[in-house]
Amino acid sequence: MARLRDDFLWGGATAANQVEGGYLEGGKGLSSVDVIPKGDYRKAVMRGEMSYKDLPADSYYPAREAVDFYHHYKEDIKLMAEMGFKAYRFSMSWARIFPKGIEKEPNEDGLRFYEKVIDELLKYQIEPVVTICHFDAPLYLVDTIGSWKSRKMIDAYVTYCKAIFTRFKGKVKYWLTFNEINMLLHLPFMGAAISFEEGENREKVLYQAAHHELVASARATKLAKEIDPANQVGCMIAAGQYYAQTCHPNDVLDAADKNRKNFFFIDVQSRGQYPAYALKFMERKGITPEMTDEDLQVLKENTVDFIGFSYYSSRLTGTLNQETEETSGNVFPTLKNPYLERSEWGWQIDPVGLRITMNALYDRYQKPLFIVENGLGANDEVKTDGSIDDDYRIDYLRRHIEEMIKAVDLDGVDLIGYTPWGWMDLVSASTGEMKKRYGFVYVDKDNDGQGSLKRIPKKSFAWYKKVIASNGENLG
Ligand code: BG6
Repeated sequence: MARLRDDFLWGGATAANQVEGGYLEGGKGLSSVDVIPKGDYRKAVMRGEMSYKDLPADSYYPAREAVDFYHHYKEDIKLMAEMGFKAYRFSMSWARIFPKGIEKEPNEDGLRFYEKVIDELLKYQIEPVVTICHFDAPLYLVDTIGSWKSRKMIDAYVTYCKAIFTRFKGKVKYWLTFNEINMLLHLPFMGAAISFEEGENREKVLYQAAHHELVASARATKLAKEIDPANQVGCMIAAGQYYAQTCHPNDVLDAADKNRKNFFFIDVQSRGQYPAYALKFMERKGITPEMTDEDLQVLKENTVDFIGFSYYSSRLTGTLNQETEETSGNVFPTLKNPYLERSEWGWQIDPVGLRITMNALYDRYQKPLFIVENGLGANDEVKTDGSIDDDYRIDYLRRHIEEMIKAVDLDGVDLIGYTPWGWMDLVSASTGEMKKRYGFVYVDKDNDGQGSLKRIPKKSFAWYKKVIASNGENLG
């Protein structure tokens, strides 16, 4: 008997700004992410500490062409179908549909592009899973109202949601309101198009913006159901359990606290109210957002149907041993865990941590989970015969899938699907590089933007195809 649901959604994931390109085609307006450069200033811009307006004139912006899915979508979806994908998680670019974010009517060319993508997916019985907002916002809204700092952003977002819910009614059922909503606190411009002014209380700005996103998410959930009761709306968090570095009670408390803070957004989205620890924390720091009674009502009445999350690694925290080195891990600070290996980019590799994280989320929310990102960024080598042997990627994914199946089969976690990140190579969000590759399909393009954009299936392509065909029984 298969251990995963018969209708388990195997597939892959991407985001508009990391694959589409065509940044001004079909009437699209500039997005926040179109002005994030590769290179020395990337981090400062992503953190909201440097305005894109101060960048050197010769800056290179990798999202503008990305891997040109805009023109290759038919070929790319054919490759998904060849692997047997049941689902494709992708995001829509807000500025493709509302170029400035203030128009009364959506841009028909933008809607038509996504309609063609969705129809192509449905032709192969691939379920579209749509992220409404994955690290982008119309740049006009950034420049005029300061993006999510402003309450006005909520209405702009809901107008955008109405346009896509209406147009894709009956075709798209799974929606995610915001990608990695907790990223807002860590990379404000990347996560929520927020950059800071001199003298602003940054934490206050961020928690107010978080409140606006949370209300927008709840209003979108309400609207999705009104337009089509069959819609399933999920939240999406950058997950990864914090472990305590030692069994000293202070370390255990520290890990518990960090876990809670990471759950903050989805506690609101899933349980419908601000948790006590968050209210206390914000009060203590004098950063409690302005919120209306109507906001609290809308949050309460419109919780999400499922919990979407990305998982790349667990995290480690401690209060005692100040000597321990830190390592990178999807932006979240973490100590080096001596029991774990690390990727070339320093991200720790912890398959068991996926099972632990799934259980933590399921215990906490008792709602179906959806792993909408997981994967290994690695520098692949194309051999002289043109093949790419990415055994390390197969190994990473195999070990994570094994633990994912244990969480379902042994622990009873309800899991909708698994869409590994960057099923085809794409632009790295953190570094803007191309050489940090996640795909089953190689894309011929280098860090400087040079290459033919040719798609080449890697060894992992055939492996994943077998995994899907056997519903996870054959991990070869
Ligand atoms: C997640 C994001 O944080 O991690 C993706 O949702 C991102 O957009 C992915 O690409 C992997 O991170 P990176 O920095 O390796 O691209």
